[in-house]
Amino acid sequence: MSFETVLTKALDLRVPVVAGPLGRGSSAEFLGAMAHSGSFGFTAAAHMPEETVSRELAEISQAANGRFGINLSLVRDRRKWLAAALEAGVSVFSLWQGDVEPYVRVIKDAGGLVFWTIGTPEEAKRAKDIGVDFIVSQGEEAGGHYVGCAPTMSLLPAIVDAANGVPVVAAGGIADGRGLVAALALGACGVWMGTRFVASKESANHPGYKQRIVAARATDLVETELFDPVGQECPHRVIRNSTFSTWEAAGRPASGQRPGEGEQISRFPNGKPLYRYDTAAAWGAMEGDWEASPLYAGTTVGLIHDVKSVAEIVAEIEATAEAALGRIANFRVAR
Ligand SMILES: Cc1cc2nc3c(=O)[nH]c(=O)nc-3n(C[C@H](O)[C@H](O)[C@H](O)COP(=O)(O)O)c2cc1C
Repeated sequence: MSFETVLTKALDLRVPVVAGPLGRGSSAEFLGAMAHSGSFGFTAAAHMPEETVSRELAEISQAANGRFGINLSLVRDRRKWLAAALEAGVSVFSLWQGDVEPYVRVIKDAGGLVFWTIGTPEEAKRAKDIGVDFIVSQGEEAGGHYVGCAPTMSLLPAIVDAANGVPVVAAGGIADGRGLVAALALGACGVWMGTRFVASKESANHPGYKQRIVAARATDLVETELFDPVGQECPHRVIRNSTFSTWEAAGRPASGQRPGEGEQISRFPNGKPLYRYDTAAAWGAMEGDWEASPLYAGTTVGLIHDVKSVAEIVAEIEATAEAALGRIANFRVAR
């Protein structure tokens, strides 16, 4: 069955499925596996130091044959990362938070494609004028930091209605082909998935973190601002861990008075200390107390029962989407 949409055409995909950025989990190996499965993935830039971003992008590009995008979180000035990505030949960009307009202009002038992750219909109304190519509607059930003002079921069609014809990709709460078909029915041209791909064999997230996703139920999740850098208010959904539980037991004290604040729980790959309450998600080679770091996950944890390869996940999405379409067709006949 063909799932051709404006998204598959723009990114040359077999299925309208992309992996959103997953912090350090979006490694060269992971993005290579996405590219080779007929899909597509985005790397985050937030964890790449300015000095190494060009080298890291070159490694990813080699693994993914140039088929990948980069996410720029505009809570800080990302012009240097944008320039490095353009220099490295990256042509697909994902922007969120902050003032996207100047970045869109630079990317469009360079002939690139822009995805803009938003959480309200009001933002969707601006997308066309700004020059955005694809909107990513991020429902509040998403794993990690989220901007959605409502869950996907109601947010996505509201954003589609407000988008003035700019195509919309659905993020948040989707883990299989049933979710893909539902998103297409609600007006999306594809899906943007996070939590399901964290629990893939190739993602460079910590194996213990992947197992926590497999074991978790939706009731194990908490919505918090605990792991934000001070002053940046963006809620995030995580699996309850020791850092959260200890903070909760202490009466949820404000930043500066939280238990274990300033305590080093690990080291970043560049040797810098990683402190409790930092935003960094547990990565594969992380030493120390990985469980104390934020275990970002969305409500799809209830649908994820094992760690699979990217190819298996994509094949499963295709098969379950076809089955869902078959059920709908039978339903129509039965009526
Ligand atoms: C570990 C992790 C890290 C993430 N990091 C980013 C990021 O740096 N930038 C971004 O735009 N979205 C980020 N996201 C959000 C995803 O791109 C995506 O919107 C979300 O995971 C979709 O919801 P789902 O988890 O229900 O599939 C992250 C999600 C996870 C799980």
